[in-house]
Amino acid sequence: MPEYDIFIEENGLLNLPKYIKEVYIFHDIYIVTDENVYGLYKEKVEVILGDYKVFFVVVKPGEKSKSLDVYHQVIKELVQKGMRRNHLLIALGGGVVGDLTGFVASTIFRGVPFAQIPTTLLAQVDSSVGGKVGIDLEEGKNLIGSFYNPKFVLIDPEFLRTLSDKEYANGLAEMIKAGLIGDKKLYHHLLSHDKVTEEEITMAIQVKRALVLMDPYDKKERMYLNFGHTFGHAIEMKNKYETYKHGEAISYGMLMALEIGVMHHETKQELYDEVKALLLKRGLVKEPLLKVEDYRDEIKHDKKHLGNGLNFIIVDRIGDAKIVHLKESDF
Ligand SMILES: NC(=O)c1ccc[n+]([C@@H]2O[C@H](COP(=O)([O-])OP(=O)(O)OC[C@H]3O[C@@H](n4cnc5c(N)ncnc54)[C@H](O)[C@@H]3O)[C@@H](O)[C@H]2O)c1
Ligand SMILES: [Zn+2]
Repeated sequence: MPEYDIFIEENGLLNLPKYIKEVYIFHDIYIVTDENVYGLYKEKVEVILGDYKVFFVVVKPGEKSKSLDVYHQVIKELVQKGMRRNHLLIALGGGVVGDLTGFVASTIFRGVPFAQIPTTLLAQVDSSVGGKVGIDLEEGKNLIGSFYNPKFVLIDPEFLRTLSDKEYANGLAEMIKAGLIGDKKLYHHLLSHDKVTEEEITMAIQVKRALVLMDPYDKKERMYLNFGHTFGHAIEMKNKYETYKHGEAISYGMLMALEIGVMHHETKQELYDEVKALLLKRGLVKEPLLKVEDYRDEIKHDKKHLGNGLNFIIVDRIGDAKIVHLKESDF
């Protein structure tokens, strides 16, 4: 899998022309974004890219834009605006815009050069890294997609200033996960600080990137990233993706996974208690907590379910995850 740069830099947006010049020689740039991000950042981006001819395609905010209809619409608009197969496509937005635009980039004209400028914390630490792009069907999330790497990812923590507390916490949940499975120092930082800087964003990305490099096509090591997600997905599915944000669902899921670890004498009760206190403090979970037994049926439909049970990620020590095989009677 070819390498690409991830620039993580406060006010890095100002250096966008420099990063573009390293990978792109033409003058036309097509940017897909959503209405919220467009409203907040259109002018700034236009000024910074003053030397370029910039075309915007703006979609509605929210998961509904990861659909075949919007995918079709975006491609039509790009073609109508004159896009050619060697033109650069930029995703400017959260994970929705990143996944949608990446999938457009991987398929329009059989693939065009693509860059990611993630603007939510979740997109900065998670969805913009790893090459997975795609859209949803009514039957399920991310059912159509591909692996498609950007030319570069530009992460500017300045974008987080306009993010709502809820969206911020959503990204923190994935960072807490990254700390628990792969970086003790990151986890300890998150225990005592409610804001993050370039440094912690870099640490979280590093956890994901290391696993992605070992396992680009998600066959093995990437599975560790699923800590908290088996139950998290079950919670999202059972509640029709409405009641809980992804970060909240995986927060309950992480606690369920830690609880199963405690039951199997792999995880210490103190770790469970500490993570629970942290997630309560960040508003990611509320008491009474959701319970494992209420989500068993959904787990059976999880794509990682193997028929005779499932491979499940637990954390035995902070910064160190482990795969255990669980039979249905085990949880
Ligand atoms: N490809 C992957 O590996 C991967 C990994 C994790 C998640 N995802 C996907 O990511 C998506 C979720 O991404 P998300 O949580 O970023 O949601 P999102 O893209 O819907 O963004 C959340 C909200 O924040 C707004 N927003 C974005 N940037 C902002 C800013 N700087 N200031 C103010 N508001 C801003 C958006 O308009 C939107 O309303 C899901 O579709 C999920 O499947 C993909
Ligand atoms: Zn996740």
